[in-house]
Amino acid sequence: MILLNSGIGNYVISNGKRYSYFGGNNYLGLAGHPAVKEASIKATEKYGVNFSASRITSGTADIHLELESKLSEFKGKQDAVVFASGYLGNSILLEVLKGRYTAVFIDQYAHPSLTTALHCDNKDIHYYNHCDAEHLEDLLVRHKGSSPLIMTDGIFALTGEIAPLDTIYPLLKKYSALLIVDDAHSTGILGKNGKGTPEYFNLQDDENIFQSETMSKALGGYGGFISGSTIIIDSIREKSAIYLSSTALPPSVVAAGIASLEIIKNEPGLRVQMLHRASGLRKEIAGLGFYTNKDETPIIPVMFSEKHKAMGLSSFLEDSGIIVPFMNYPSKQDLHILRIAVSAGHTDSQADELTGLLKKWKNRNQVGST
Ligand SMILES: Cc1ncc(COP(=O)(O)O)c(C=O)c1O
Repeated sequence: MILLNSGIGNYVISNGKRYSYFGGNNYLGLAGHPAVKEASIKATEKYGVNFSASRITSGTADIHLELESKLSEFKGKQDAVVFASGYLGNSILLEVLKGRYTAVFIDQYAHPSLTTALHCDNKDIHYYNHCDAEHLEDLLVRHKGSSPLIMTDGIFALTGEIAPLDTIYPLLKKYSALLIVDDAHSTGILGKNGKGTPEYFNLQDDENIFQSETMSKALGGYGGFISGSTIIIDSIREKSAIYLSSTALPPSVVAAGIASLEIIKNEPGLRVQMLHRASGLRKEIAGLGFYTNKDETPIIPVMFSEKHKAMGLSSFLEDSGIIVPFMNYPSKQDLHILRIAVSAGHTDSQADELTGLLKKWKNRNQVGST
């Protein structure tokens, strides 16, 4: 575990030492953006630290409504609702979709927030091979007669792959299925306007697609949200025990969300710059013979079949002044992953230093990843 003595940015202080930082999920660098920090501080000054009540009792403030209205505008949806964390979004969706499906078809490497959500409604559960729409269809055919719900990450948190919604979406139509996409890592990143995976694949707006999203990654703040039709958002506000029975998001993070949405809207170049940097870095890393992914996302995994190699590389980089965490994380993946997270503010010299060290380690150890 990395112990921070500073906030996160291109550089961090850990155990009193300064490191170049390629960890976390601060893809657009908004966690430390002056305008986001200022909005957050001002909100704390005005409202205090916490509203200390649930949204339906006395915890709803004007800024919650402003944030929800800005989120629905950003997503081009009728409404949006914010809640305690992105992790809870999938469980909230299963709470309110209860009765609309009889079997769940879920990617084998889905994030724990998706698998945890399954406890909300113990139905027939089937795991399809990772990102494999053909296998998904086999399973759907085998369970014809069920009302299917398909669940997947949009961008996979550890491997940075984009779920193939282009091949999954036709199955929705063919088998009258619902789809939940956990777009925690795609919000603000994928698609022409940063609306996530469905926009990336140019999918038409579809009332059977539900996105669960977070403000804790590209948006630099904290808290989960779901946007959609008035019907689905009202049903969350009326029926979700998770939403109804938890304390409203605190002022500092609500104001941070409002400020970062403004930046995302006005500075689309941030996303483009970050993806361009990630693409160059990914090519160089693959060129060095490391095993990584191909998709154009901020996440560049360096994957190993042997744990000690992944841990060894992470320690080597840390000793040399760069933090790239080894992902000791709940996952069914059998690969051991060092996860490079690219941020819009990373400089050429930071990227060069990282690839230089990867090359040095490779030459020294004469091993490829995996
Ligand atoms: C795919 C995915 N979904 C949900 C979450 C949870 O989001 P949050 O940390 O905002 O609760 C994460 C990561 O933290 C994630 O990687």
